Amino acid sequence: MNKLLTTLSVLAVASVTVLAHAQAPAPATATPPASAPAAAAAPQPKAAPASIKSVEAKVAMCVGCHGIKGYQASFPEVHKVPMIAGQSAKYIVAALTEYKQGDRRHGTMRSIATSLSDQDMADIAAYYETLGQEGAPALPAKADKTPSPQVAALLQKAACVSCHGDNFAKPIDPAYPKIAGQHADYMFVALKAYKMENNPSVGRSNGVMGAIAKQFSNAELKALAGYVSSLEGPLKTVPEHRFR
Ligand code: HEC
Ligand code: HEC
Repeated sequence: MNKLLTTLSVLAVASVTVLAHAQAPAPATATPPASAPAAAAAPQPKAAPASIKSVEAKVAMCVGCHGIKGYQASFPEVHKVPMIAGQSAKYIVAALTEYKQGDRRHGTMRSIATSLSDQDMADIAAYYETLGQEGAPALPAKADKTPSPQVAALLQKAACVSCHGDNFAKPIDPAYPKIAGQHADYMFVALKAYKMENNPSVGRSNGVMGAIAKQFSNAELKALAGYVSSLEGPLKTVPEHRFR
């Protein structure tokens, strides 16, 4: 399992590097070597940390779905749009990259992710990680509800806490999602997607969760999603009134 994880992260890093390389030549052609001193004199706006304004412009595209409480998507079945405020930045970048590369097959999120550069993703992810978290009470170290014996056995079978944490909100790796309190109907759709293969428009190719989800029937996945969703967690939908 660890070996697989390492391979996956190496692959992810490799593809990010390829993307970075693919974009690198553009400024070089636009700026011939002779203009190097000029470039030094005129600071490159791209290198500056993202200003508040530009992050707002970047997330304006997300707010219409992720910033509306109870907003529902209808593909591949009706479910609430996932909460992303309070999610780890690393996981948000990982998820967006998967949509962009087609490892998560979802038409809408794919076209949105494709429009984002690596820098956009990093800025947006950093923004959402802290959104709505000021003054939030500390989470319990362990899940605040005891699962039914049936759900306890399912959790045990796949050792969910070993990756997602004792309270399902403190994963062992920040590139893994916080899932406590996430919408149950969304998690059910996500868990089923990990089981889906050879479907060009639905499904998630993830070695880790694929192997896990395939051990369970859909009824069992629904029970797992229901329990995890009932827990106290950091995730929120934050309506953004300040955007016009
Ligand atoms: C048209 C509605 C819509 C818009 C606009 C939208 N999203 Fe999404 N987003 C969704 C839906 C629906 C999903 C669930 C997709 C799935 O089933 O995998 C999703 C999933 C995600 C996920 C994965 C969440 C998780 O828990 O794995 C992230 C991260 C995300 N969106 C970020 C963004 C960002 C950032 C933007 C703006 C740049 C954005 N979305 C714009 C509807 C939208
Ligand atoms: C070996 C580590 C590991 C174990 C064990 C594990 N997960 Fe995961 N889980 C992950 C990773 C990594 C992801 C993100 C995969 C991706 O990028 O799509 C994930 C994603 C998820 C998601 C999707 C979250 C979202 O926001 O889209 C859900 C739901 C989930 N896991 C539930 C579970 C449940 C329930 C169990 C136990 C039955 C479990 N996981 C066991 C590592 C693990």
